[in-house]
This record gives sequence, structure tokens and C-alpha cells, in this order.
Amino acid sequence: MSDLFATARRHFAAGLVESRRGDALARFDAHGPRLFGLLSSLYALDGGVTEPIRCLLAGLAQCVNQRPDDLFELDAARPADWLDRADMIGYSTYVERFAGTLDRVRERVPYLHALGIRYLHLLPFLKARSGDNDGGFAVSDYGQVEPALGSNADLDALAARLRESGISLAADFVLNHCADDHPWALAARSGDPHFRQFFHVYTDRAQIERLEADLPQVFPESAPGNFSFVPELDAWVWATFNRYQWDLNWSNPDLFQHMALALLRLANRGVEIFRLDSAAYLWKRAGTDCRNLPEAHAVLQSLRAILEIAAPSVALKAEVIVPLPEVAPYFGTGDRAGTECQIAYHSSLMAASWAALAEQRADILADVIARTPAPPAGCVWLNYVRCHDDIGWWVLREEATGHTGHDGFDLARIARFYSGDEPDSYAEGEAFQSSDPRAFHGSNGMTASLLGLHRALAAGDDDAIATATRRHLLLYAIVLSAAGVPLIYMGDEYGLGNHSAYRRSGDDDGRWLHRPDMDWALAQAAPFDRLRAGIDRLIQARRRCASLTPSTAMRTLPFSEPGLLGIARGAHFIGLYNLSAQPIAVSLTQLPSLDGRQWHDLLCRAPCANTFTLAPYDLRWLESP
Ligand code: GLC
Repeated sequence: MSDLFATARRHFAAGLVESRRGDALARFDAHGPRLFGLLSSLYALDGGVTEPIRCLLAGLAQCVNQRPDDLFELDAARPADWLDRADMIGYSTYVERFAGTLDRVRERVPYLHALGIRYLHLLPFLKARSGDNDGGFAVSDYGQVEPALGSNADLDALAARLRESGISLAADFVLNHCADDHPWALAARSGDPHFRQFFHVYTDRAQIERLEADLPQVFPESAPGNFSFVPELDAWVWATFNRYQWDLNWSNPDLFQHMALALLRLANRGVEIFRLDSAAYLWKRAGTDCRNLPEAHAVLQSLRAILEIAAPSVALKAEVIVPLPEVAPYFGTGDRAGTECQIAYHSSLMAASWAALAEQRADILADVIARTPAPPAGCVWLNYVRCHDDIGWWVLREEATGHTGHDGFDLARIARFYSGDEPDSYAEGEAFQSSDPRAFHGSNGMTASLLGLHRALAAGDDDAIATATRRHLLLYAIVLSAAGVPLIYMGDEYGLGNHSAYRRSGDDDGRWLHRPDMDWALAQAAPFDRLRAGIDRLIQARRRCASLTPSTAMRTLPFSEPGLLGIARGAHFIGLYNLSAQPIAVSLTQLPSLDGRQWHDLLCRAPCANTFTLAPYDLRWLESP
């Protein structure tokens, strides 16, 4: 046992109540050595336990002591592979858009339960900056619910109600930045040198120009550059996103301990999954693009080790929207595999499904699927069609150039396709932040609008309505059958359309196009009820099919028709997807691995012949013994 670990253990043990001591120390012994190895590498703890680490250990013990009994029991009972279940399906929404307040979300729990949801991701609900706040992603208080959405007691009640229904609450942990009116930022502004070190502050313009040369821009149109000049400081503050979102300085151990304890306190309120917002940006080093640095991984692994000690039933979900080879390491690599985040957004699969649909080319998706590594045990990919952000095409830049072994494709054309600016387009979307070719530009819009449903409805064109509905079910069927956990974005379960009025409300962030209010009456009306019935059928079939557990191996089937995607899961399931506007005659006998087998249609619940025609954008889910 190292001296550092032994001293840390003594500090931790001294703060524990007797009833929790045995369990907590056993966990500390299992995860503490890894934690202190990581903290030493980040914060040079050669001299022993420093003041911030002492605070961390005291706070850690306190969080263990205060963890509610039901959560403490969940910690003991929850298996390490709890996410790896076919019925684990997520739903992501804004509190305000979904129901108005946390209390009202509680009233809607039966709706989510009936849909088959097992985890609910509520977009940021903590106290946010007044005025612009990036939809709550500029947090002013990590310990307080946004008053407009309710109280901390409402949060506790919602978490408990969800848990009773078998739904885990997922919350954002916005850890790359806080709001410029967070008390730390206010203290820094007023000249407090301690809190100034919670941020990255530069007085030398030449220095930020040198840094800027290596940094991409996230919002080149609405928030150009990565630094924001703050007159009170007479200096620039690092602000990767908007000028009012100040990047936190994770190289400061005091910041680390404050944030780690804020995370644990939220876990004690019943959050079971944390979406780690913008986790790729946590560490800065001059001369790099300051993304995915090894220290950022070490910070995340430290947070995971802390949860393993104080709230082990809680999972971490990495929101790192970067090319595929840089995402997989967020599960942990080498002998650290499985010790970082348990969930990671598969944004390449998401973007590739939209690209494949626009180009009517299955190989675009097949390429990404073939290069998707299986996560370590207990970890899962998160698959989704849409979320509250734009579809970022940038993650596919290697694929688009043809560097990954398949024919390339034109991302600019695909972006134009979804903004309705190509002759063959059915989409009603908008381009987002596309002025800088190096930027994360993408497309905005709700799924149903991007797929032409609302345009077809306005035209009263029944064929086009049916076609758009099939496209919608096709994309959802792909994510519901791909390896990983699927996530439904609010309103997509029935085809909610764009919030086109967002510009009238004076908001210049185009992502509000796909952040409409739920429309509960619409969900009951034709053709939305038919779309909903189709989604229900897919979800029910997924839950019945053992091959669709998240970790079952996934491969694609080598069909020769360019528009036909075949996904096999394990030995018994195949999904067939017509990504094209033409019917495709399918013969399962053409592939030796499928020939001579009996197939059962999981959606129609009837036997399926070996040859059949897939209508444009149609799909089949087949199982064989
Ligand atoms: C994440 C969020 C996005 C937000 C950004 C800054 O990417 O998904 O909505 O603007 O982080 O917090």
C-alpha cells in the first residue's frame, strides 16, 4: 500500500459513520488505488494528501454517509451489466418542452413507461444563467434546480417516481464550463485570485492567438473564437462554446474536488446516469487542439472511481462528438478498459444513417458499422436518430474522403439535401454554423420534418405521407436493432415536426428548430398515431428478441444492391433496410450464411419467405432458430 493511499484511506475512514464503514472501505480498497494513481498523475501528489484532496476525502465520506438507504441498496444490488438489456431504451427531452416543470414530468411517467422507456435523459435542469444560457448548458449552481422548473424536492420526487416505474433518471453534468454568473465566475471577476484559477485566464493577446491557431471553433457564426474578453478582468477567458460559458480549469485540484462532490450530491438525489457534456474538452495544452487529451481521460476515470466508491450504481455517459476512433477510448483502453464511461454517443452511426439515406447508399452505414469496436464488458454504445443538437457532419470527414476503404461522399451535398436545397430533397431542415469548413457544421430539424412528413401533410399527399412514415420507421429500426442502447428524442415517437417559430422569438441559435413543445393532441391524430404504432411495434419486438441485447455482436451482410443494408446480430437475427426510393427484390438464398434457413418476421409475427420485395424505405426484422 503506498503512503499516499494509506493516508488517504485514514482521512476517508475518519469521516465515515459506523453503519456504512464496512461497505465504503471495501470499495475504497478496490478503487482507491486506481483513483490515487490517477490523481497523482494529474495533480502531482508526491508530497502527500494536499488540502483539496483532504476536502475531497471528507466530502466523499459525507456523501457515503448521506446516501439515501434505497440508493445505497441499489448500489449493492445493481449488476455491472445493468445497461446490457434489450429493454434498456432511453428517451431524451427538455423538462420545459415535455411538460413545463419537473412535477408535470412526474405526471407523464406512465406515458414513458407505456412507451417502454427505461431511462429518461432530462436536458439541463439545474439553475442556469439568466438570459441566454444555451438551453440550460450554462449552469449557475450545480446544487440547485432551476427555479422555473421546480425545486430540489421536486427533483427528488421525480427521481423516486421514475425509479418505482423501473426508469432511471439521467441528467447532464455540464463539466467543461459553467455560466459566467456562477459564484466562482463572479468571485473571479471581482478579483479573487483563488477563483480566478478555476478558469483559464490570459492577459496576453499574442498567447491566445497562438492557442487559437490550433483550435477548431464550435460555433463559428454565433460565437467565433475560443476566448472571451472580460473587461473586469482586463483579460480573456477560455470559452470554447458561447462567450458566457467559461471553461473550467480541471488542472486545478480544488476545482476537481468541488465538481466531483457536486456530481456525488446529484447522485444522492437519485440521478442514475450522468451525461458528461462536452467531455472531450476538459484539458488544455498549448500546441494541441485541446480535445481528447490523455488528462481528460484521467479526469473522467477519476470521477468514475469516485462513483465506484460512493455511488456505484451510477453510470457515466460520454458526450464526445468526435470521429469514431476517438470516441471508443472513452470506455477506457488497455488495462483501463471498462473503467471510464459505460455509455458513449455513437454520433458516427447517427450521422452515417442520415448520409446513407440521402445518398441511398447502404455502404456508408456498413462502413461505420464494420469499424465500430465492441465496447468492454458492461459498456454500451448509445444509438440515436436525433437529439437536441444538430446532426454534425464533421464526425464523418474521414469516411467522406473515402479514407476508410469505401467510396467517399459529399458531405456538403448531404447538408444541402437536409436543408431542402437539392433537387431530389424532401427535407425541411436548416444548415447550422456552416460558414467555416473546419467547424462542426451540421443540419437542424426534427426527424419527421427532415424526412418529409410535414411537407407531405401540408400538400395533402397520402403517398408521400406513407413514404415519409416508412423513412422515419426505417431510421428508428436501424438504431433499435444496432448494437447498443437506443435513445428516442422527444416527439419522434409520433413524428412531431419543427419548431419553425423559434426565430420569431428572437433566438438566433438554429438548434431551437428541433426543440418544439410536445403536442399531446397531435400524437393521437392520424397519421401520427400510425407512426407511433409503428414505433411501438419496433420497441415491443426489440424487447422480445434476445439477439437485440446491446452487447450481441453486430455485422453487416454483403448484399450487392447498393440501397440494401443488412445487419446481423449474433447468429439468429437479421435486419434488412431498403435505404432507396426504389423497391428491392431480396433473396436470402443469395448469401451462404442465410441460405436454407427458416425465417420468422418479428414485426408481423409470421413466417417469412426467402424471397420478397422490400418497398422503398421498407424494412424487415427476421429471426431464425
Ligand atoms: C453539448 C450540448 C450542446 C451544448 C454544448 C455546450 O454539446 O449537447 O447542446 O451547446 O455541449 O454545453
